Amino acid sequence: MGYVEERARALMERYAVGEIRIPLLERTELYQRSTGETSDIVSKQMYTFTDRDEAETTLALRPEGTPGVVRAYIEAGMDRSDPEQRFFYSGPMFRRERPQKGRYRQFYQFGVEVFGRADAACDAELLVMIDDLRRDLGLQFQLEINSLGCGKCRSAFRTAVLDYGRAHFTELCHDCHERLERNPLRLLDCKIDVKLAEAAPKSLDFLCAECRKHFDTVLDLLKSAGVEFVINPRIVRGLDYYMRTTFEVTSTNLGSQNAVVAGGRYDGLVETLGGAPVPGIGFAIGMERIALALEAAQTPRAGLMRVALIALGEAAARRATELARELRALPLQVELLSTERSLKAQLKRADRIGANYAVIIGADELARAAAQLRDLGASAQREVSLANLAAELYPARRD
Ligand code: HAM
Repeated sequence: MGYVEERARALMERYAVGEIRIPLLERTELYQRSTGETSDIVSKQMYTFTDRDEAETTLALRPEGTPGVVRAYIEAGMDRSDPEQRFFYSGPMFRRERPQKGRYRQFYQFGVEVFGRADAACDAELLVMIDDLRRDLGLQFQLEINSLGCGKCRSAFRTAVLDYGRAHFTELCHDCHERLERNPLRLLDCKIDVKLAEAAPKSLDFLCAECRKHFDTVLDLLKSAGVEFVINPRIVRGLDYYMRTTFEVTSTNLGSQNAVVAGGRYDGLVETLGGAPVPGIGFAIGMERIALALEAAQTPRAGLMRVALIALGEAAARRATELARELRALPLQVELLSTERSLKAQLKRADRIGANYAVIIGADELARAAAQLRDLGASAQREVSLANLAAELYPARRD
């Protein structure tokens, strides 16, 4: 996971997105007003407790990052003074779900939120960003995209789904019975009523001219950037704040918990939480799921080449200490092995740490200002002069 975070942070630098640190605890009310009372997250999965203050405020361990970022953004007055902002955050989230592979009660998200941009180019930029990360990690993703429309289109769509649900009430599952009146759109992503969900009204058929144009522009920009996608009308998302573009990214290397990234546009949210009417859009990456996808794909990681430095004898150890610094500065990843162990034991250690090369310096080599360079993958060994060692090892990278 550390590796994925490292790559994601490097990507943020290239996209000029700055870090924001948000608290693990927020008032429960924040999530009720944003994520939504009827969402599974708020109605079933939050860890809440009562504070010790007189008002007995209810606090919640954050189940997602978006509401906290919006709250902090408004509290800092940015919605009025400097609305266009790009943030990323990284850290644990908490949801009381049934644990299984890829689904945990404490899990890590790496999220991005952009404020003050209503244009379709911003939606496309975030989706290209996700595709860049995919490419960087050497994974295969599928991007599924949809548009829920604005408040106007959404309410006509909601009514149509509600009517549809009522007409098929007896065929609905237990969960859909319960949530139909409160949050009818959830019918569309029901994992049980799949057939009914597929035949249900689609938000794309209810888009007003402006929302249609916005969606078409996003798709057009994705095509010109070479990002593959499929339109999936069932991506309605279980959280209340979305409008217009919504998306989910799945990994072909995972089983049932295969959504690795999800997000969308939330233009009304800053205002709902007491700020100015500033548009917003973002996504969050499920870090454990990406790590699992990497493991399943056995994708080699780009990284520093690893060298095990083996010194035999005191004089060689002195030279090796100096040499280790020189090699690390290249940069290479260097572990200076215990000089008190035998050559055999040190070579075993070199294998164990997955070193690409072992550099061996004994008294004889030291006298010739040379080292034995052993390619551990190929089990081949040759002598090189210490003066040439850096050039021999670098810029070869482990991949
Ligand atoms: P979400 O779909 O609830 O969206 O979560 C985003 C991603 O977090 C999921 O696609 C999944 O990879 C990961 N995830 C969610 N729950 C778990 C879990 N229990 N265990 C492991 N991984 C999990 C949000 O949270 C929104 N805040 C995304 C967003 C940001 N929308 C706009 N901005």
